[in-house]
Amino acid sequence: MKIAVVGSGYVGLVAAACFAEIGHEVICADNDVEKIAALETGSVPIHEKFLPELIRRHCGRRLAFTASTRDAVRASEVIFIAVGTPPTEAGAADLSFVECVAADIARSINGFKLVVEKSTVPVYTNEWVHRAMLLNGAPEGQFEVVSNPEFLREGTAVTDFLYPDRVVVGCNSERATAMMREIYAPLFSGTYDDQPGAIPRPEDSVSEPAFIHTSARSAELIKHASNAFLAMKISFINAVANVCERVGADIEEVSRGIGADTRIGSRFLRAGLGYGGSCFPKDVSAFKSVAKECGYEFRLLDEVIRINDEQRQAFLRKVRTALWTLKGKRLAVLGLAFKGDTDDIRESPAVAIVKALLSQECSVVAFDPAAMERAKAELKYENLSFADDPYEAASQADALLILTDWEEFAKLDLAHIQSALRYPIILDGRNLYNPDEMTSHGLTYYSFGRPPAITKPAQQPVSEVAVHAPNGTGQKSKDHRHNGYNGNGISTNGHNGNHNGRPATTPKSKVSANGASANGASHTISKNGNHSR
Ligand SMILES: NC(=O)c1ccc[n+]([C@@H]2O[C@H](COP(=O)([O-])OP(=O)(O)OC[C@H]3O[C@@H](n4cnc5c(N)ncnc54)[C@H](O)[C@@H]3O)[C@@H](O)[C@H]2O)c1
Repeated sequence: MKIAVVGSGYVGLVAAACFAEIGHEVICADNDVEKIAALETGSVPIHEKFLPELIRRHCGRRLAFTASTRDAVRASEVIFIAVGTPPTEAGAADLSFVECVAADIARSINGFKLVVEKSTVPVYTNEWVHRAMLLNGAPEGQFEVVSNPEFLREGTAVTDFLYPDRVVVGCNSERATAMMREIYAPLFSGTYDDQPGAIPRPEDSVSEPAFIHTSARSAELIKHASNAFLAMKISFINAVANVCERVGADIEEVSRGIGADTRIGSRFLRAGLGYGGSCFPKDVSAFKSVAKECGYEFRLLDEVIRINDEQRQAFLRKVRTALWTLKGKRLAVLGLAFKGDTDDIRESPAVAIVKALLSQECSVVAFDPAAMERAKAELKYENLSFADDPYEAASQADALLILTDWEEFAKLDLAHIQSALRYPIILDGRNLYNPDEMTSHGLTYYSFGRPPAITKPAQQPVSEVAVHAPNGTGQKSKDHRHNGYNGNGISTNGHNGNHNGRPATTPKSKVSANGASANGASHTISKNGNHSR
């Protein structure tokens, strides 16, 4: 089929490349002229596994790029709208980009067009797109509008698209449904799998995806409700982690116990800094706003958002508990992307933490495997610098903070980290490690939903170190206490290690969580992580 995809972001570009991969002729349009020029020269603007390979394979053959939506529309029978739907000040979805594309399509119409809404949109958008098309001159009967929400996750977007668990199609006509079935047919018939050079099927993909045909309104609600549910699962486990901290239980054990129930499942049950990214925060707000407009106060979602925001504050409290004052300290930060395997820093909890730390006049040395360029462009602070790897970031830092669940951060050479750090303190915002493993390397370890694992400092520091005096003069000292690190996890600012006004339940020398994590080692992230869509 001849397909146009309007919008060449994380969703549009992946969809365009994957439609070409399954045999369609695709034109991808974007009004960002520079982006299109870069794509035409073979450069891929986002970090996404298999995407460069697919673009190389099809560009100039079944895949073309254009800055003209008009040209793309006129050359195609089916037009996918995949532009952004960012939040407004009030938290609703800003649909002006969608409206603009609907108007462009209407003005360019030259025969029957199937207009497919792939952006995440509130209920009734399908009707609005239909109306906008008519208002802009598209003749009734010359087009149909279908809702086809996208469920891909950044980081695994290509395999999510090619091996979906479901394809949701919302429309009221047989003609439109038949066209949508035809478009996705290779993913249902198994012909794509069998194709030579096919992108390999992930182990955890479903063998028989569901084609879910619904009304347009239901399809729109399915997407919002799915994202809100996943966000709720993350906030739920974070709330449970807060209870664990207060009673001395271990959230990793609790999550394993809960997730083993097949009615619940283990995915999205990882405690930590909470969700972020360009989807969950805006979609939860937009869904709340849709419900309100329809006369329903969806208060559960208020609480989901509140818990998520509070996790960041809780992490900052842990940093202060470990380090006392922050002014003049040097902190190593691992991770800037909103989750592992992506370069996307939109609404990243890691970025929010870094900004909060920088405002406390400490210096931050950050490393991220893919998001550094975007972070450098967005975060321009004198006291922020970037390292080439985790060990360079850790060098002479007062503590190491893990903020993104990159797989490589779960496999650090801990002996190397321990020797690189000025003080052996790790604050893990993603629960990537087993506390016992940390203490066995002489590291003090704070995470979510588990007691801090404290390593008593050696009588004499390994080497003479420079302590940042409040005025930043870097005065030399051998005494850890100058740094606010008191070795037993009880900060000198009156907080105890549990932040709850009760004495820390940890012995002085070495404390770890109650037993090892599920697999007795650091975590593998990708399967059970909170990887959002
Ligand atoms: N990113 C994800 O993981 C994900 C997953 C599922 C659904 N979604 C949804 O898909 C939509 C797109 O998300 P994204 O992350 O790809 O956004 P994005 O910001 O990465 O890309 C949007 C693209 O649309 C282009 N654009 C905007 N207005 C245009 C216009 N009038 N004409 C042509 N191009 C235009 C922009 O230049 C940009 O390149 C959103 O509604 C999002 O909620 C995103």
